[in-house]
This record gives sequence, structure tokens and C-alpha cells, in this order.
Amino acid sequence: MLPNFPKQVSDDNPPVNRNVQVDDRLYDYLIQHSVNEPEVLEALRRETAQYHMARMALSPEVGQFLGLLIAMQNPKKVLEVGVFTGYSTLSMGLRLAPDATLVALDKKQMWLDIANKYIAQAHLIDQIETRCCDAKATMEAMLQDQAGTLDFIFVDADKANLMAYYDMGKQLLRPGGCMVIDNTLWWGNVADPEFDDKDTRIVRALNDHVHQDEEVLSSLLPIGDGLTIVHKR
Ligand SMILES: C[S@@+](CC[C@H](N)C(=O)[O-])C[C@H]1O[C@@H](n2cnc3c(N)ncnc32)[C@H](O)[C@@H]1O
Repeated sequence: MLPNFPKQVSDDNPPVNRNVQVDDRLYDYLIQHSVNEPEVLEALRRETAQYHMARMALSPEVGQFLGLLIAMQNPKKVLEVGVFTGYSTLSMGLRLAPDATLVALDKKQMWLDIANKYIAQAHLIDQIETRCCDAKATMEAMLQDQAGTLDFIFVDADKANLMAYYDMGKQLLRPGGCMVIDNTLWWGNVADPEFDDKDTRIVRALNDHVHQDEEVLSSLLPIGDGLTIVHKR
């Protein structure tokens, strides 16, 4: 059992911001030195770019990082909440061990049709099952017989159900399992008092909740749109 540490940084000893600012030149360098994008993912990204919602997809450096987490964690049962055209699905799928499976949920068949095409090209149809469904209802059903059995969950769907995805995801994970949540910096709006819309309030509430949650160890990383990594104790 990991020891509990204080959850707050003390006000009289504030850390200095040493995060490097990533401008376009540094971003190009980062891409050149971080990303090894398989051809099938490059092709998927090219097709996805034709849709005006293309920015919903993970960027390559985040896909690379997600694949690395899968390779390091070596999960056997993976759940994805929010597939879109499948960039994150394949970023994980391509790093799965041969005996591992991934169930990927999205409510729009149109997006899953595109994802399935590339899953087939990557010869991963035996390992990746896409399901057209409401993710919340499906996770509720999974809790009936799969609580405490999943090794890895990636959450990247609607914000309205974000807290439910986190709470149910935690119940579905085995102790030692990992959950990754995308968009937790929400375009920077979480720290900007000018923004008080519903989705921003939900992401702030989720971040507060995860940070205070004694049942997990977590870290919010400034990569992409903010990525929270959660380890269930
Ligand atoms: C940000 S996109 C996912 C991007 C994806 N992870 C990628 O890397 O390309 C969010 C997806 O969640 C799906 N979605 C939204 N609400 C949902 C729900 N209630 N149940 C299932 N899927 C949902 C949307 O259809 C959309 O494809």
C-alpha cells in the first residue's frame, strides 16, 4: 500500500514554473524527436483531417505517449471511452501484447466505421472490439460482472458524463490498474476565471475530485490538452 501524502502544495512555498513554453519551432522539434508514427496511424490521421471535427483526435505526440504507457503497463484488458476515428484506439492497439484485448466505445457508428477500417488494416480485429453504444450505460452494465478486472482505461468522450466515467472507471479497474483522462486542462480554460461554462466547470470539478481522491495516485501532465494519469491503489 502506498503511503498517503498531503494533497496540497503549501502557500508559503510555491513552486517555480519551470515548464518549457512550446512554440511552433519547439513543437516541430518535439515531433521529430518523440514520435514514431506507424504508417497505418499516419493514414488514419490523413483521412481524419478531412473532417471539420478532426481536432477531436489525439495529436501524434499524445498518441505516442499513450502507446508507451500501454507498452510499460502491459495491460490484458483495456477499455476506451470515446473512439472518434480511432487514433487513440490504434495508438494503444498497436502496443498491446498478443493476448490482450481492447473494447472501444463510441456512440457514432460513422466514426467507428472509419476506425474499424484501420483496425482491420493493422490486423487487430481479433484484439480490438468497437461497440456503438452510450458509454455510460455500457460501463454501468460492465460493472455487473467486470468490477475490479480491467487493467487500463482511456477516457476521451463527452464532458457531461466525465465524473461518472471516472467513478465507474475506478470501480472497473483492478488495484494497480491505470486510467488516463484526456482534456483535463481544457484548452487552458480550467485556470481562466473568464470561463464559467458547463464543460469547464465539469473538468474543474473532475480535477478537484481526482486530486483529493485518496484511493488513487495521480498526475496531471501538460501534454496535448492536458492528460491525467491515475493509478488505482
Ligand atoms: C474527443 S472524441 C474522441 C477522440 C479519440 N480518442 C481520438 O483520439 O481520435 C470524443 C468521442 O466521444 C464520443 N462520445 C460522446 N459522447 C458519448 C457517449 N455518451 N457515449 C459514447 N461515446 C460518446 C463522440 O462520438 C466522439 O467520437
